[in-house]
Order: sequence, then structure tokens, then C-alpha cells
Amino acid sequence: MIAASGGALLLAVTGWNPAGWLERFRALDPGRDVRLWPDAGDPGDIAYVAAWRPPAGCLANLPKLKAVFSLGAGVDHLLDDPDLPDVPIVRVVDDSLTHAMTEYVVLHVLLHFRRHLDYAQAQSAHRWKHLDQPRAGEVAVGILGIGTLGRDAAERLLAFGFRVAGWSRTPKDVPGVRTFAGNGELDDFLAGTDILVSLLPATPETYHLVGRPLIGKLRRDGPLGGPVFVNAGRGATQDEAGLLEALDAGELKAASLDVFETEPLGADSRLWGHPRVVVTPHVAADSRPSDIARYVVDRIRDFESGRPVRHRVERARGY
Ligand code: NDP
Ligand code: OXD
Repeated sequence: MIAASGGALLLAVTGWNPAGWLERFRALDPGRDVRLWPDAGDPGDIAYVAAWRPPAGCLANLPKLKAVFSLGAGVDHLLDDPDLPDVPIVRVVDDSLTHAMTEYVVLHVLLHFRRHLDYAQAQSAHRWKHLDQPRAGEVAVGILGIGTLGRDAAERLLAFGFRVAGWSRTPKDVPGVRTFAGNGELDDFLAGTDILVSLLPATPETYHLVGRPLIGKLRRDGPLGGPVFVNAGRGATQDEAGLLEALDAGELKAASLDVFETEPLGADSRLWGHPRVVVTPHVAADSRPSDIARYVVDRIRDFESGRPVRHRVERARGY
């Protein structure tokens, strides 16, 4: 294979069907040689890799590699790779993905706020049962990780009238949102939260952050009868054994979990059948080839025309 000018793009994904991605990359960038792992050809031709959970070894020994593009917003799947070369890593920041995540967050916040699990239980028992419904303004939603995704979700939740707070590593100013930063302000953030939403990346600092001790710091006397947890960030940030203990002890009223410590979630996990847990299979915000291949091609064009490449990952902080 002869590499086109600018160098070849290697697509390396596991767990996703690569056909739509390949077709889309080739259509958007017809002058580029786009290859699909494991048919990488001459490694010296490869200038870019677009990856999602790349197969072991595929990032090693690419002497002309210039950049690696994550096909998702998260980059833990790349930073965990022992063969990751020292080139810029770029992640996805795209409205299509952001809006999909906001749909998921709003759906699950509303589901718990409107007591849907209680009504579903009553329905299965053929019981016509009225439950008191608090007003949105009485309920505080706290977002762990008020970054790109967290901010958009916060803005939509504000429109429903919820009280919204956000926690991040560095201070933020988001109109209408109470913001907290760093470990020193975490407890104050938690003490005022009824529905905790996590959109944190998986990093050494966030590993197992949400477990029974953290759940115990959430507001207990709120209008929902106990705190609720929604995780659409990364499973590594939650301690599932601790969550189950907190659910069983009634310290956590309910949870919606899209991400898990091990994915796919094992068939024997108690989370599947827990009456207070909603499980979804890491689908909160899928990367669609139609949108995200365009995003990657645009970033490659930035790269090749000497424009600053946006959304580069800071390896040292892990996201
Ligand atoms: P961003 O990098 O924009 O936001 C991450 C936020 O987390 C930032 O506000 C950051 O703080 C905060 N944060 C990180 N580490 C810490 C820490 N140690 N203490 C406090 N705050 C911390 O990422 P996105 O919003 O774009 O995406 C977030 C995550 O969502 C992704 O990393 C990915 O794992 C997950 N995701 C899941 C999907 C799904 O389908 N389930 C789909 C897409 C993404 P600061 O702003 O100060 O840097
Ligand atoms: C992502 C994801 O990181 O889908 O984009 O999890």
C-alpha cells in the first residue's frame, strides 16, 4: 500500500463494528489511505490512529505516528495501554455526544425524581397507588465532574427548576450552578445533594471515589426519601460492592448505572436484579460514525495545516 500525502490513518477498535467507521472516514477524506487493524500494512506509513479500546500491541512500533484520536470522550482506554507512544492524544468534544449524554442524565434524574421505580413496582402488583411528588425546586442535583458533559447537563436540569451544583478539580463559574472544587470542598458539595450524577473520567484520583463512605455523606433528609446515584462517567469511579451495601442498608435509595467496574457487567452481578437499580450497557452517549469521524477528520486537518489542535489530553492528569 502507498501512503497518501499526510500519512495513513489506522482505525483500531474493539467491541464496535468498524465497517461504518471505515466507510465514513473514507468518504470524508477520500485522499487518505485509511486502513483497518490488523491490516496496517507498512507501519512506517501510519501517521494517525483513530481508536476505541485498541487491540493490544497495535499502537507499538509506528515510527511515523503523529497523533492518536480517541473515538470517545474518555481516554482511559488509551492511557492504560502500555504501548501508547509519546504523541498528542486527542479526545472527542462534540455536540452530538454532549447532547446524547444530557438526554441520558435528564432521563434518569427525572425517572428517580418522578418516582418511576416505585410506580413500576406498584404496576407489577396491579396496585393503583398515588405517591407524593416533590417540586423540582426542592431537589438538589449534584454533578461530580462539571466538565464539558456535566455543564451541558447542568444547564438543562436548571431549566426544569432543579437546584444544581457541580464539583470539579479546578474552580468553575457556571451561571445558576453552585460550584465546588477539589477534595477540600467535596463534603460540602455532597451534604447538599439529593441526586448525585457522576460524569467523572477514570483516573488514579477518581478510582472507587463513589462507595459506601461517600454515599453516607449525601443529604439524607431530602424530599426523595434518600439519596440517588446516577453514573454515566466511568465504572472505575464506583465501588460496586459498597454501592450494593448502601442500597441494601437503605442508605442509597436508588441508582442508575450505565458504566461498571468490569464491562460487560457479569451475568452474576447482583446489580442486574436489584429492584432499586437501573442498568444500561454503556450507552449513555454512543459515538456515532456519522458525527465523530467528521470530528476526527477536522482535527487531522487542523494538525496538517498547523492550526492548534483542540481537545488534547493532558496525560499527567489522566483526562
Ligand atoms: P471533561 O474532561 O470535560 O470533564 C471532566 C470533569 O471531571 C472536569 O470538570 C474535571 O475537573 C473533573 N475531574 C476530573 N478529575 C477530577 C478530580 N480528581 N476531582 C474533581 N474533579 C475531577 O470530560 P467530559 O465531560 O467530556 O467527559 C467526562 C467523562 O464521561 C469521560 O471521561 C468519559 O469517561 C465519560 N463518558 C461516558 C460516556 C458513556 O456513554 N457512558 C460517553 C462519553 C463520556 P476540571 O474541570 O477541573 O478539569
Ligand atoms: C466515551 C464513551 O468515552 O462512550 O465517549 O464512554
